[in-house]
Amino acid sequence: MLKTPDMLLLFFCLVGAVDSLHKQWIPDTNYENKTNWDKQAVPCGNDIVQFPAQRRVSVFVETTHAVREMKLPVDGEFILNSGAGFYVVSGKDPGCGAGVTTQFRDSESLQWFNPALWQAAATLEDLQRGDFLFSVHDESVPCQYDDVVFKARSSFGVDTSSSQASIPVKSVSVLGEKFDRQSEFSKYLSSRSGQLQFRGSSVVTVGNQECGDPSGCDCGNSVHHQRICNTVTCASLSCKKPLLPAGHCCSVCGAIITIHYAAGFNLQTYRQRVHQLFLTLPKYKSIQLGMSKVFKSQRLMGVIPFGTTPEIQVLAVEGEKGSQSEGLAWDIINDARSHGSNLGITGADFQASSGSSSDQTGGSTGMVVGVVFGVFIMIALIIIVVVLIRKGVVRIPSSLPTLPTLWSLGSFDRSSNVADLDGPIDHGFDNPIFDKPNMLPDIPGVYASETNHSISMSETGVHFVNPAYDENETDFNA
Ligand SMILES: *[C@@H]1O[C@H](CO)[C@@H](O)[C@H](O)[C@H]1NC(C)=O
Repeated sequence: MLKTPDMLLLFFCLVGAVDSLHKQWIPDTNYENKTNWDKQAVPCGNDIVQFPAQRRVSVFVETTHAVREMKLPVDGEFILNSGAGFYVVSGKDPGCGAGVTTQFRDSESLQWFNPALWQAAATLEDLQRGDFLFSVHDESVPCQYDDVVFKARSSFGVDTSSSQASIPVKSVSVLGEKFDRQSEFSKYLSSRSGQLQFRGSSVVTVGNQECGDPSGCDCGNSVHHQRICNTVTCASLSCKKPLLPAGHCCSVCGAIITIHYAAGFNLQTYRQRVHQLFLTLPKYKSIQLGMSKVFKSQRLMGVIPFGTTPEIQVLAVEGEKGSQSEGLAWDIINDARSHGSNLGITGADFQASSGSSSDQTGGSTGMVVGVVFGVFIMIALIIIVVVLIRKGVVRIPSSLPTLPTLWSLGSFDRSSNVADLDGPIDHGFDNPIFDKPNMLPDIPGVYASETNHSISMSETGVHFVNPAYDENETDFNA
């Protein structure tokens, strides 16, 4: 018989979607996209269209187009939508200007590992609706469990070069066809279109199983972190303490909330919850929120690494203006504290670029404990030292300021004085000339000249001679 928490867990496992996203490649090589032409306009009937001779390009054509002249590349293709094509107008095209020579732009250098060229969404519908998700740079590029989408009715060219032999993903959709079996996708890759669309040293492979862990999975792009960041230019920041989130290339202004979770936590469900509860609020409109599982390395006594613990990093990045991310961080923390047990959350804290954090109170408590502890240790040490001195286990060395009683008790006994010259508490006898005997070692020159060679100095102390005694006998340093 299942108890309630287990039922709840089971319920979560069955209902909660596993965490995999759809990542869509933004650029295209479509004839109708004016950004693909160097004159920033789709050519018309009076124009001369040029494709550079060496360009290997796959161009999608959606409709019919009039041209005056067209120069084609040596190696390339047109993917014609049904009913699409080209025709030449006799005479002038009235709807077209004077006629220019326009060139199809170079898009060969567009890299798979450029986070700016992808958009992410939880579902295909969200992708079509424009309901995009923000994520750290490493996870803006497709993760190993993601569905990769190249827009239907669209062609593209992507450079997949990387240090790895393959780039595993769950599936790839090209021209409206979804590939999730490697045998079929590799057939497509070796086709004419596949070769023109996917260039570069690494091979994209499909069929990777989906992330089976409801709390999220490792994206797998940390090996490409440097390559990803090479394509990113960081903006200059104006906040007090910019934060550097894990998996991101740039420091940001905003807040990082860390969620500690246990069984029952579902990243996808939690992401939806936070978006619905908070991001829909007008005051948080300018905030971008990204959630990912990160692995924090554990250190024994803060130094020796001994493993990693997974936690959820919630990154809130501020828009141009406003400083709402701290408020959002508090909202998320308070939500986690009051509903954490239902969500599988065991703890949450945050850091904000304004300088504040959730564990300020925790920090001061820690400091109070530390101070109290330190005072106890000090008192214990003093007691131990006093006891040891009382018992005679420890003797106070002569270089320390000596107790006045020792001085007043110092009676002069010539033979013992000479014998004890190198002893530990040998300061000779109480000479009334020197009312501050302990100062002697600090200013030996003054006293040495004043007393006219009757003071001699050794490493253990200063000895001076009572003139009542024979000079020869007192020359003890000879
Ligand atoms: C045209 O291409 C640009 C850049 O590649 C892209 O951002 C834009 O969405 C494309 N336009 C359409 C209508 O697809």
